[in-house]
Amino acid sequence: MDDQLQTVVNREMKGVSRRNFIKGVIAGGVAASSATYLFRASSLLGQPPPGLGERLITLNVNGQQRRVDVAKQETLAWTLRYKLGLTGTKLGCDRAECGACTVLLDDVAHYSCSVLTHTVRGRKILTIEGLAKPDGTLHPLQQGVMDEQGFQCAFCMSGFIMSAVGFLKTNPHPTRPEMAHGLSGNLCRCQDYDKILTAMMRGAENMRKAQHV
Ligand code: FES
Ligand code: FES
Repeated sequence: MDDQLQTVVNREMKGVSRRNFIKGVIAGGVAASSATYLFRASSLLGQPPPGLGERLITLNVNGQQRRVDVAKQETLAWTLRYKLGLTGTKLGCDRAECGACTVLLDDVAHYSCSVLTHTVRGRKILTIEGLAKPDGTLHPLQQGVMDEQGFQCAFCMSGFIMSAVGFLKTNPHPTRPEMAHGLSGNLCRCQDYDKILTAMMRGAENMRKAQHV
């Protein structure tokens, strides 16, 4: 854990238990946000200056109708993070290589860094923030991460969880190799794959128990 993350953890830990803190991280997809990452995100090339050529559109995000001004060449990842405040969706490579930005579009996993926002009007967008129930009950896959304490820095976590949610809709009873194959579009810089896979398999088990399948 780097110094900055440790500082954030220490600050957050004042007044909350470690378990509740981790639960909040998993539910919101909040992860290590280093200064380098923030700097990079704010200086990404290819995104238009705010206000230039924008049009007001309505998106269906996590079951809510969200009105937002978007430019023609604006990516969904950008809109979600910087216009709608849904920062659980991460930007890693910004070029369809790492999977950190994965969200579901009509129940199918997509790299949101490679989808233009204006093309998804009328589609159902689900981000990590939309997984837990309104009362705070975690989605079974998020609970799997809690159960197995998967992930190190957790930067890649929301992308893995969203990919797994999409994959389990097509195969609710995967073997471990099948799950690994289903998540092969997601990369973890910490190389914590074995633990991640264990957490996702536990999540799949949690889902089957919850749905009795
Ligand atoms: S940020 Fe979208 S795939 Fe890496
Ligand atoms: S746990 Fe750090 S990038 Fe995956």
